[in-house]
Amino acid sequence: MKSLSELLNLHRDLDALFFAHQSALLRFEFDKALKLLERYESLLLRHIRDEEELLFPIYSERAEVIKGGRIELFLNEHYKMKELVKLFKEEISTLSSEPNPDAKVILLLDGQSFFKRLCGHHDKREAEFLYPALDRVTTDREKYDLLNRIACSFPVAERSQAES
Ligand SMILES: [Fe+2]
Ligand SMILES: [Fe+2]
Repeated sequence: MKSLSELLNLHRDLDALFFAHQSALLRFEFDKALKLLERYESLLLRHIRDEEELLFPIYSERAEVIKGGRIELFLNEHYKMKELVKLFKEEISTLSSEPNPDAKVILLLDGQSFFKRLCGHHDKREAEFLYPALDRVTTDREKYDLLNRIACSFPVAERSQAES
């Protein structure tokens, strides 16, 4: 039987890609770091769009929403995540022309540590509230259809890029 909670694997894939981005940043490979962050952003946006357009409407219509699992919280976190990634991209694009980028890289990593905590909390609440509730309120047929419409995994090339 299919389960919508399978989609939680995407969080792990996104984390792996962000790790690859930060590894490039640590090595001062700014072009590579930016490319990996752009890839991360496009996959994050796709995942957010799938959640907001296909999953949240079912969740808010049918699930019994409890404290910690409100849609407004999820939406607000999505907004913050998108804005922070935009900010990181702007900051990284200035690093190549920086004669002494150490301080800026450290500042950026500090900001990214906040971002990772935000994503961690968000993913944990989705795993605790959103996805189990969706699995309870959808039929097997709906799960099957939703999983066919949603990007459930990243192509192999994207994974190996994340791991390189
Ligand atoms: Fe989300
Ligand atoms: Fe998610």
